[in-house]
Parts: sequence; structure tokens; C-alpha cells
Amino acid sequence: MHIGLIFAMQEELDAFLSDTAGANTHRHKNVRVTEVTLGEHTLFCVLSGVGKVNAAYATSVLIHHHDVKLILNSGVAGGLNVDVGTIVLSSAVVHHDVDVTAFGYDIGQIPGFKPTFMADTALLQRAEAIAKTQGLNAITGLIASGDKFVTDLKTIESLVKNYDDVHAIEMEAAAIAQVATLEGVPFLIIRAISDVIGKDAQVESFNTFLVKAAARSADLLKALLETR
Ligand code: ADE
Repeated sequence: MHIGLIFAMQEELDAFLSDTAGANTHRHKNVRVTEVTLGEHTLFCVLSGVGKVNAAYATSVLIHHHDVKLILNSGVAGGLNVDVGTIVLSSAVVHHDVDVTAFGYDIGQIPGFKPTFMADTALLQRAEAIAKTQGLNAITGLIASGDKFVTDLKTIESLVKNYDDVHAIEMEAAAIAQVATLEGVPFLIIRAISDVIGKDAQVESFNTFLVKAAARSADLLKALLETR
């Protein structure tokens, strides 16, 4: 199967793909895709860049140029009611910076779509089972995305009022999920917490734990792909 893997930052990609020597690479304008064979699967790994537009574009490139039938995203996130190092698996994904509630939509809901984008259930269950077997500190919950590095609870206040299972805040997942949904491609988001929303010294925490948390997320992604 062709599987698309999306990483926003170089550190997140490197945590998964430390050695690309000899790997086949494809260039689509400014987007570079690294092709790796894993058993019967062909993985197409892309460094999307940060933010929702970059993520949406990269997702589209993977689907249209590489015919991927599954999309996985791994990286770090800000945590909500969870500690640094916790892995968050997406039950679903939502935009935290979309608000069309004036017209009766749910907070985060884009008109024409359901309130949240549901991740692939079978894949989620497999990831949960692996995390359990490996004794990882992992939780399943809603992952919320927006074009902002969030350092205050106020930014996500209305979303959290509506959903009590938001555990990770980041900047790409909802865009990936929205394009995947438009294209009918299943997806799963895996994130490890690098900083906790609203805590002191959040940026320092992000800088300190970026590589470690990215590795934690990437290790679970590898385990998931190896058992497919
Ligand atoms: N990625 C990691 N931490 C984050 C935060 N606090 N806000 C948005 N994206 C993040």
C-alpha cells in the first residue's frame, strides 16, 4: 500500500527518517517527498512545514502525486490535561481557530463538514494496542489545530467548553484531516506532548523536549507501520 507520512518540522521528520542515504526522492516545486520501502508498503514521507496551509498542500501532494491510501502524521503538540511526554492519539481532529457559530455551526466546524474529522478507527485501535503492549504513556482524545503556537488557555476556551476530551493542540492535524476527508483517505494523527498549554516557560519546554517528544511519537508510528 502507498502510505503518506507528514511531518511539519525537520526534527519530526528526522525522528522517523534518520538516514535517507540512497532513498528515492521526488520534488514537487518546493515540496520534497522521500520514498522508503517497508515490507510490502511504500512510504512517502513529506516535510510539510508548519501550519495548516502547508499541511493541506502536502496532504494534497501525497494524494495526487503518490496515490497514498492512508495518511499518518507524527510530531509534537502542546498538552491539555496531560504531561510532557504523553502520546496523544487522535480519536478525531478539529480546528480551534474556526468559528462559524454565528450561523449555528459548532465551534471549530467548517460548513459542509461534520463538527470534527474522525480518525480511522481500526488504525487507532491498533495504535492503542501497541501503546498498551509497550507500556507507553498514551491517551486517545481530540486533537485541535490552528495557525498559532498556543500559550494561553483563553485561545482554546470555547473549544474546550464544547469538548471535554481535547488533549493536544498543534498546527496541522485538522488541515490534514480535512483534505483526507475530502479525498476519502483514512488518517491517524500521533503527537507527543512537548509543552503544556498555559504553563510557565512553555517555549523553553518546547525547545527542550522537541527532539525527545518527536522521537516518542515517531517510535510509535514505526511500530504501527511495522505491524501492518
Ligand atoms: N506544537 C507544540 N506545542 C504547541 C503549542 N503550544 N501550540 C501549537 N502547536 C504546538
